[in-house]
Amino acid sequence: MTCQQLKKAEVHGHTIAYVDKGRGLPILFVHGFPLDHSMWRYQLEALGDQFRVLAPDLPGFGASSGLSTTVMRMEDFADVLAGLLDTLEVTEPVVYCGLSMGGYIAWQFWRRHGHRLRGLILCDTRAAADAPDVAEQRRVNAERVLREGPGFFVDMMLSRLFSAGFLSKSGPVLDEMRRTMMSTPPETIAAVLRGMAERADARQWLGEIRLPCLLVVGEDDILSPPSEMEAMATALPESKLVVIPEAGHLAPLENPEAVSAAIRDFLSQL
Ligand code: MLT
Repeated sequence: MTCQQLKKAEVHGHTIAYVDKGRGLPILFVHGFPLDHSMWRYQLEALGDQFRVLAPDLPGFGASSGLSTTVMRMEDFADVLAGLLDTLEVTEPVVYCGLSMGGYIAWQFWRRHGHRLRGLILCDTRAAADAPDVAEQRRVNAERVLREGPGFFVDMMLSRLFSAGFLSKSGPVLDEMRRTMMSTPPETIAAVLRGMAERADARQWLGEIRLPCLLVVGEDDILSPPSEMEAMATALPESKLVVIPEAGHLAPLENPEAVSAAIRDFLSQL
């Protein structure tokens, strides 16, 4: 799979690298942490024939410019994404598709820029805020990454992001994701860990999100397990949950055909 052609735009003081291809209903793909747009490679390929697929590297990640802040909040990311849509003159409502941290940002995007939404696709994500001990551990990890570099953190994340089966097969996608994570600046990892640690509990808003929502979760996801996403689906008024077989947290990479099919089916009903 070749890398997508990246364009660049200036948005709110950041240089944002992004994929923009195809025509039709715009789908905004928002990556997880600490990754970049390339985690959506299969979906961009599979859906770019029928839709306008937009996939930025969030500020600080991938080929976008670095962060100058020590705490990057989900609200800040949501505003940059809305700014990118402004810059690209995307005025029609978009379908927002976020994985994990991309989902945490989705709640803020809905709160702050809800008029821009046609629907939500929430992959392997959570609505709950961090428990206090989890938030504290993120802050400890932030300090350690700044002191020691990202190696220890990347090793820990890899074992959680992918299912045991995928890890044992190894392969080029795994190597590439490791490289992407290792090349994320320690300052970005630290600022975003702190931002995630203080994110709000989105469960309070779920009942108000009157938009078609597709929820997708890998059956072996240990970070945002199917049971938690089932509860989210129950709380969201217009939602459907699809459990993806043979996949962990990064279901779009582990079982791309099943994820792309679920997305295509959802989009065909909008
Ligand atoms: C992600 O995949 O974006 C992360 O697992 C989010 C998190 O650390 O909570």
